[in-house]
Order: sequence, then C-alpha cells, then structure tokens
Amino acid sequence: MFQSFYPKETAENAYEVDYKGLRARGYKAILYDIDNTLVEHNAPADDRSRALIEELKGLGFQILVLSNNKEPRVKSFADALQIPYIYKAAKPSIKQYQAAMVMLGSDEETTVLIGDQIFTDVWGANRAGMHSILVGQLAKHEEIQIILKRILERIVMREYEKVKAKEQRLNIKNDNLISIGGKTRITGLLGYPVEHTKSPLIHNTLAAFFGDDLAYVPFPVSPDDLEAAVKGAHALGILGLNVTVPHKSNVIPFLSEIDPLAGQVGAVNTLVRTVSGFKGYNTDLPGLSIAMRRAGFEIQGKNVLILGAGGAARAAAFMCAGEKPAKLLIANRSVDKAERIVEDIRNSGIMATENKDRDRDQDQETVISAVSLSDLCSVMSDDRFLAIQCTSVGLAPHDKDCVIDPGSDEGKAIFDSFDGGVDLIYKPAETVFLSEISKRGGKTMNGLAMLLYQGVIAYELFTGRWNGEISADEEVLNRIFSKL
Ligand code: ATR
Repeated sequence: MFQSFYPKETAENAYEVDYKGLRARGYKAILYDIDNTLVEHNAPADDRSRALIEELKGLGFQILVLSNNKEPRVKSFADALQIPYIYKAAKPSIKQYQAAMVMLGSDEETTVLIGDQIFTDVWGANRAGMHSILVGQLAKHEEIQIILKRILERIVMREYEKVKAKEQRLNIKNDNLISIGGKTRITGLLGYPVEHTKSPLIHNTLAAFFGDDLAYVPFPVSPDDLEAAVKGAHALGILGLNVTVPHKSNVIPFLSEIDPLAGQVGAVNTLVRTVSGFKGYNTDLPGLSIAMRRAGFEIQGKNVLILGAGGAARAAAFMCAGEKPAKLLIANRSVDKAERIVEDIRNSGIMATENKDRDRDQDQETVISAVSLSDLCSVMSDDRFLAIQCTSVGLAPHDKDCVIDPGSDEGKAIFDSFDGGVDLIYKPAETVFLSEISKRGGKTMNGLAMLLYQGVIAYELFTGRWNGEISADEEVLNRIFSKL
C-alpha cells in the first residue's frame, strides 16, 4: 500500500551511509537534502559536512543540494561546500530531481537521493526513478508541521520494517534450501533428551568453515529405540553420529567396531560410518587433553586428583593415565566405583605401555589409587595436586554446592593442596570448586573448551580429517567458543 514511500535503503544518519559501497555499485551522483540531513535545521555548513563532501568528491561523486528552502539559505550552504544547488525544489515534485540529473550529467541508474523525510525527499526520488536513502534526522526538536509529518512517517516505516523483515526471512529460507541438496551428508546426535545440545552449533559452523556439504541434526532416541536408531542411521547413509546421555555405554553392542581406548573406557561418544556399520570412538579423552594442554595444564610428572567415578570421571582418568602423571588418585563418594576404574586402567595396560620409558622406578600400584571422598584429606599428605572435578555436584541450578566442603577444616586443607583445577562443568562458568582454587592463586579452567574440542575432533573424524591434531584454525574455534 505504501510502497512508493518506502526508501530503497536506510541509514542511521547521512554520515553513516556506506558511500564506498554506493560507488562500487555504480552510483556517481548524490542529491542531498540539507536541513536535518547534513546539518540541523537552518544551521550553516560545519566541519563534519565539509569533511564528508570532500571525501565524496575524492571518491568521484558529483554532488548537489536539492532543497525546498529559500535561495539565501540554500545558496550560502552550498557555496560554503562548493557544490551546485537547487532551491525551492518543491519536493516531492519530480521536476527538480530531473533538472538535478541534467546538471550533474547523471541518470536514474546512477543517482541517489539522501534525505530525512519520506513524504518529500524519498517519495520524490522514488517517483523520479532514482535510488533513495532515508537517513535519521539530526535535530531532536522540530517544527510542529514536521512533527505531524513524522507521525505519518512512523506509520509508513512500521509497514516498511515488516516488509524488510519478511524479505530477510525469505532470504534465510532460500539460503537453507540452497545449502541442502542431493549430495548433502547428514551427521547428528543420539541422546535423550537432546533439546539443549550445543553440538549443532559446533558442527554446522565447522561445515560452513570447511565448505563441507554436511548438516548436523539432533535426534531424540529413547533407550528402547537405540538399536533400531543405529541400524537405521546406517541404512540412511548417515555419515557420523555423536552419542550422549544415556547411551554412551549402551550403544557399544550395536557397533561394528570400537576404538581400543574407547573400549577400555567403556564409553563412546562418536560413531564413524564404515562399510559394515559404525565404529565407536571416545573424543572426550583427546578433547579434555587438548583443552588442558592449550590452557597450559601439564599432567606429565604431576600429581593428579580425579574427583568422581562416573562416566565423565572414567574418561578423564583414562586420559590422565595415558599422560604419565606421577600420581593418579581417584576419589569418589562410593569408593568401589573408583576402585573399578583403577582396576580397569591397570588391566588396560595403558599405564604400563605409557610408563615403560619413564625415568622413575615406581610401579603402577604406587602411581594409581582409589580413595573414598571422606578419607581424601588423610591420604593427600603434603603433595601438591592438579584436581579434575568430574562429579555432577555444582551443576546449575545447584551452583552453591561443592563436592569438597570449602567451609570445613578438612576441605580447606584439601583446597590448600591444589596447584590448579579443572571442572568439567561449564554451567555455571565458575563453580564454587573453581572459585576456591582461584582464590588461592591456582590456575583454573571450566569444561567449555573440552566440550568444544570433543566436538571438533568428532567432526574431523566424521570427515576423515583427524590425524591426532585439530586442523580447524584458531579463528573459527574462537568464534564457536564465544557462542557456546
Ligand atoms: P557422569 O556421566 O556425568 O560422570 P554419573 O555417571 O552419574 O555422571 O556420575 C556422577 C558422579 O558424581 C559420580 O561420581 C557420583 O558419585 P557416586 O558414584 O558416589 O554416586 C558423583 N556425585 C553425584 N552427587 C554427588 C554428591 N552429592 N556428592 C558426591 N559425589 C556425588
């Protein structure tokens, strides 16, 4: 309905227009309104308007002021800027727009009108067939007849914004349709629930970065449907899958192959397509390892304390065991679960192989041990520890909780013995556990970088890029990290 009033573009004010872009698009002549566009109503040319006109001349623009004001006002303004002018232009009448184009030697295709009023500047430009840019008015206080026009302008602009928003929505839809085609490969996440996953952000950004024709989607799969989902995914040609709670262990029987380390840990989070089925990996281990290394945490030769003995703690403990710590102590509320991890690590041979070349004559028994959380203080002696918090205690909304009571004497002594700490929790960004360590000057890190790297490694496994080091560059990783 209001179409002929809609500006072709808008800008915050006349000084925020992308003039270089206009020049690149082939425009060579600009008609300016004066009052409230280049300067406030009836104000003389100032340094800012002078500098703008100089810059535009430098870019190769022909410039003219086209004003409805009287000659003395328009002439003195234009003369100060050394540009031609037309006064009493009777905008929106198109006669003087056409005269201006003749004066500048331009035409409808190469001329832009820049002004602050819809019913004079923009309407006239549209009817004259040239490009129109509506800019915000410079003055806050305006005369009464202009204020009334502004009310009508607001009605037009409300409709205009709706049209623009719809155009944008259509563009986004088209983009999606273009990017998904006959050769698009699907990857995704099996979990239950999956609504809050951040993995699509990681994977789809990487696909765009690498230019891979690939889309990552979350699939909510109940435990009863897990086997059918894995088989169906293979039948559907799905390239790879991540696996999360509660399927990380239960999915193992449905795999065609399993990476030896993931098999020892007893949990997989990444399934990579092979001819006969999916091969399972656990990228939590290298994800944590790379996150810690890049943050400057050293494990080799250090005393490491793992807090917890659930799935996350198992992965962290196996990862650490492979990196030659001096001591690896696993503390859990139920000590039997910690003991099982110790036993599984010993049976895996990971310590024996990794420790073979070590220049220390300690055997495995003295290096790795399990302890009940309640006895932790007494077994720590005077050693310094790097602590990795792998329990669910402190996870939002229970932000105040901490697996070690920082108010008790024992708790204080334990925290005093930490050189640094990692918490696999990333919500909240700083748990009580981490704040107690940083209060004491220890280095800390939450679980967000591990989340990022486990996803990046999974992506690189899906697409055949993984060779033990991440190949996505720092900038894209930082971009994703800032959005997690
Ligand atoms: P995940 O897969 O994330 O590791 P999990 O397997 O359920 O989750 O493990 C949760 C961990 O948090 C376990 O080590 C658990 O201790 P128990 O094995 O004794 O259950 C630990 N945990 C949970 N609540 C705890 C609490 N209130 N105090 C101490 N540890 C707790």
